[in-house]
Amino acid sequence: MAAPIVIAIDGPAASGKGTLARRIAEAYGLPHLDTGLLYRAVGARCLADGVLENEAASIAAARMLDLSTLDADSLRGAETGAAASVVAARPGVRAALLDLQRSFAAQPGGAVLDGRDIGTVICPDAAAKLFVTASAEERAVRRFRELSARGAPQSLAEVLADIKARDARDSGRSAAPLVQAEDAVLLDTTDLGIEAATEAALAIIRSRLGAR
Ligand code: DC
Repeated sequence: MAAPIVIAIDGPAASGKGTLARRIAEAYGLPHLDTGLLYRAVGARCLADGVLENEAASIAAARMLDLSTLDADSLRGAETGAAASVVAARPGVRAALLDLQRSFAAQPGGAVLDGRDIGTVICPDAAAKLFVTASAEERAVRRFRELSARGAPQSLAEVLADIKARDARDSGRSAAPLVQAEDAVLLDTTDLGIEAATEAALAIIRSRLGAR
């Protein structure tokens, strides 16, 4: 049997990594896990129970998480994203979600995972690693359009402030901060449309997989 192909895609909020991960997974016929959804589900549970500040409750919520019940659509909102970023800074929450992510990556043919620490912590041996980024301003415009399309009322300035706060929290935390893995290839999508970004990402991955 061919060796499994694990592809790790990391980057900050609204960098385009989710869309790229989905397209790469399609191109290689691999299952895809958006790991941000796990933290969003834990954040949403804690918000619903009014226990966002309670670390032990968030760890318990992470331990109870069931991949098969995740509803991506209901987890996309800005409030859920901010709550996700709060619980994601807690080492106990991250530890509780580790096995689930590693099991997903260990499927026989391989998998594509996207998040913040896939190339550094979850799948350090991934065959190909991409670090997708874009300027905070460009990411804010993208997120603003996405939220507007969902009818979520937030100004562009609010979205930009939110993105910057999330960047600071995700990069500044001590538990698995957002950093580019040494062997990840940087893809800056600031000036790329989605088709051009997909082409660039696929070219990087082809060359990485070919170089194995
Ligand atoms: O990618 P996203 O916006 O759905 O992620 C939501 C939050 O979850 C983000 O602020 C940081 C956190 N996260 C993380 O810490 N590690 C991951 N692998 C994925 C997401």
